[in-house]
Amino acid sequence: MASESVTLFLLCTVVMMVVKILMSFTKRKIYNFPPGPTPLPFIGNLLTLDINRQDFTLMELAKKYGPIFTFHFGRTKAVVFVGYEANKEALTTANYDFGDRGEVPIADDFQKNHGVIFSNGELWKVTRRFTLSILRDLGMGKKPIEGRIIEELQFLNAAIQSYNGKPFDKKVFYLAAPNITFGMLFGRRFDYDNPTFQKMIKIVDDIVINTGTPAAKYYNVFPILKYFLKTPGFVVDRINQLNEILKVLFKEAKEVKCEDSFRTYTEAFMQRDEREIVTDGKQKIFTEKNLLASAFDVMLGGTETTSTTIQWAILLMMKYPHIQKRAQDEIENVIGLERPPRWDDQKVLPYCLAVVHEAQRFANLFQYLPHSTPSDVHFKDYFIPKGTMIIPLFSSVLNDETQWETPKQYNPNHFLDADGNFLKKDAFYPFSKGRRVCAGESLARMELFLFITGMLQKFTFTPPPGVSRDDLDLTPEVVFTMRTKSYNTCATPRQ
Ligand code: HEM
Repeated sequence: MASESVTLFLLCTVVMMVVKILMSFTKRKIYNFPPGPTPLPFIGNLLTLDINRQDFTLMELAKKYGPIFTFHFGRTKAVVFVGYEANKEALTTANYDFGDRGEVPIADDFQKNHGVIFSNGELWKVTRRFTLSILRDLGMGKKPIEGRIIEELQFLNAAIQSYNGKPFDKKVFYLAAPNITFGMLFGRRFDYDNPTFQKMIKIVDDIVINTGTPAAKYYNVFPILKYFLKTPGFVVDRINQLNEILKVLFKEAKEVKCEDSFRTYTEAFMQRDEREIVTDGKQKIFTEKNLLASAFDVMLGGTETTSTTIQWAILLMMKYPHIQKRAQDEIENVIGLERPPRWDDQKVLPYCLAVVHEAQRFANLFQYLPHSTPSDVHFKDYFIPKGTMIIPLFSSVLNDETQWETPKQYNPNHFLDADGNFLKKDAFYPFSKGRRVCAGESLARMELFLFITGMLQKFTFTPPPGVSRDDLDLTPEVVFTMRTKSYNTCATPRQ
């Protein structure tokens, strides 16, 4: 009798276990990724990847697998979106949320899920919302900042003038834009030879270069490399040095604050209650760590991107003097050579506006910045799990043959209609689109238009003696962004 009970008990237990296992199978979600090249164990599809021009490899693969496919970075699966249509659907359709950043080890080492660019989840949402609202309060894209940019343009033109037509390095074009964002952060501008200013620019430069090396890119795929590579440690050291400078500047800004000094991003940040936490109740938001991380993001956004685009624009003007001349004629005929350009002038300077937009399209500053799925996403026939890396390939939109007549050429006509009016293009993606669209877009647009037209109003840029236009190399140097190669230029004042 006793043995029958034991047998019955064991039988029940086995049946229950089998039922439980079967149930766990039925509950298990069946994910369905887009097709893609077959991965090798551990390294995935890395053997096929041009590490510096990942956009070239991914665009090539799209010819075989279609505009949405899966690529394995080592053991990390990524869903890649190639071309205008695929990116438009992924980034701008409200139903699909690809809005997290995911893990980027080279940046996570120092940002640790703080700031705006590399953060995720609730902290990102709150910090981004705060950043956008303060930048707007500080006049981003509006009159007060327009005034600051026009003032800074005079300093930039004076720096260019000081070379008296002799050759100078493209680095000069890097100095004006940072002063606009530094003003928002610290409430002051810096002379270009100020040692603190120079130091901050140098640190940002080091970080931009070192986070874009092949070593850093492999580290992002295999974080274990941290113990073998110098780059991750070097980047963290530089950030720590920058943070020490920022702390001093924040303190100074607080001490010298007078009636008419303007409110800064930093001040607004510090006025928020440090104990404020995100809705999951775990992470505090307005802490010193998040202030430093967010300030760094605004600095990075406001320094490297705009300045590098200006460097591209001047290189292109030297390469294509007939385009430079046509832009200058438009400026001269419409606003003359004295009054500095204003933001409103974009309505009456369509050719110049096209020159600036096309410089951004051609410069193609970011091949992509990774996104990630904050939750499971049903996209078309696919079911993509939470935490999947998403690659919106901006390069492929800016070079999409269905959207641009001559994608490989610098051609301002891309942005002009038959009557010479400015033509907005939906495939203009340098700032990305959707949930993670650049937080400084309206500031950057204003800066680019005013700085570039303001320089062309006063100077004609030519290659230095002995360098022909054919010698000017438009192949980008790939770092964290896509920069121009080093160059010198001569600026001849216009009468
Ligand atoms: C020519 C100039 C600029 C270009 C081409 C540019 C481009 C971009 C791109 C492509 C992204 C990533 C979007 C994505 O992940 O989908 C981004 C993000 C960002 N940019 Fe810009 N940017 C520029 C200027 C600026 C300026 C002037 C600022 C600051 C005032 C700024 C602040 C930011 C921030 C904070 C983010 C992170 C947004 C987020 O992840 O939510 N950018 N930018």
